[in-house]
Amino acid sequence: MARAIATINLKGGVGKTTTTAALAEFMAAEFGQRVLLVDLDPQTNLTTMMVGEERWKELNELGRTLATLFRRAIDPTADEFDIEKALQHDVSPVRAVRGVDLLASSLDLIEIQEGLSHQQYADPESARPIEVLRSAIAPIADRYDYILIDCPPNLGMLTFNGLRLADGYLIPTIPDILSTYGIPQLQARVQKFADKSGHRIREIGLVITKYRSASNLHRSIIEQLQRDDRIANVVPAWVPEANQIAASAEFVPYGTLKRKYGNTGQFDALRMLTETVLMNAQVYL
Ligand SMILES: Nc1ncnc2c1ncn2[C@@H]1O[C@H](COP(=O)(O)OP(=O)(O)OP(=O)(O)O)[C@@H](O)[C@H]1O
Ligand SMILES: [Mg+2]
Repeated sequence: MARAIATINLKGGVGKTTTTAALAEFMAAEFGQRVLLVDLDPQTNLTTMMVGEERWKELNELGRTLATLFRRAIDPTADEFDIEKALQHDVSPVRAVRGVDLLASSLDLIEIQEGLSHQQYADPESARPIEVLRSAIAPIADRYDYILIDCPPNLGMLTFNGLRLADGYLIPTIPDILSTYGIPQLQARVQKFADKSGHRIREIGLVITKYRSASNLHRSIIEQLQRDDRIANVVPAWVPEANQIAASAEFVPYGTLKRKYGNTGQFDALRMLTETVLMNAQVYL
């Protein structure tokens, strides 16, 4: 059975999508895992990183994104969602990466999300609007070792759909004051959601992103986080801030992960991050 992990933080721009993409690529290429990526963010960043903007436009026109799934959930007369057609196989611009599939996002999800919220508001006790994603993925989940879910930076209905599917979650954060500010509130909200929906969602760990080794502030914040007993685990592989990681957002072909992310520490950090997440997932999930 696949283990499903959501990457979540209410703070925007902390590296959620970059971490999700790298984890999928390293899980597949370095650790032989079969991975399904689920892009729940209407910003579609993960989708365009994995298949490029042109392909995304085609998929959107063909109705092969998650917008079709959620539209149908709020409007039974809308087109049916065909998961086999929506699944994009062997994505990633890195040739050495095999075995990463994707369910693409769409900008149309911005409006559709409002429809889901109205549905939830009209019938607060109904579990249906938060079960949409899980029900759709259930028939194909066994094909994968890991399902990685990239959530938007909010706790709206799309994120709740992601959490309903998730067995665990990772919190990517920049080790600075503003980025780490809302973490206890986020943990509490996830816990409340898990209690209400009656399933367990384990915190797998905090992932330090955009780490600057020359920054005293970064180092002292990481020390604080490590001491904080409200935090289950600070993953001991910090992703450095690096131009090559920022550039990896552009969809251009690469031969290898070392080429894409750079071999001056980034590759090793991302590999170690992935190894630790896999170990933690096996223990916790
Ligand atoms: N380690 C890194 N070094 C340098 N730049 C990075 C790194 N990680 C992410 N970035 C850049 O920082 C920006 C935000 O990253 P990303 O999109 O992954 O964050 P996010 O948390 O998913 O954002 P959002 O909340 O908008 O979804 C992007 O431009 C990305 O390329
Ligand atoms: Mg993102």
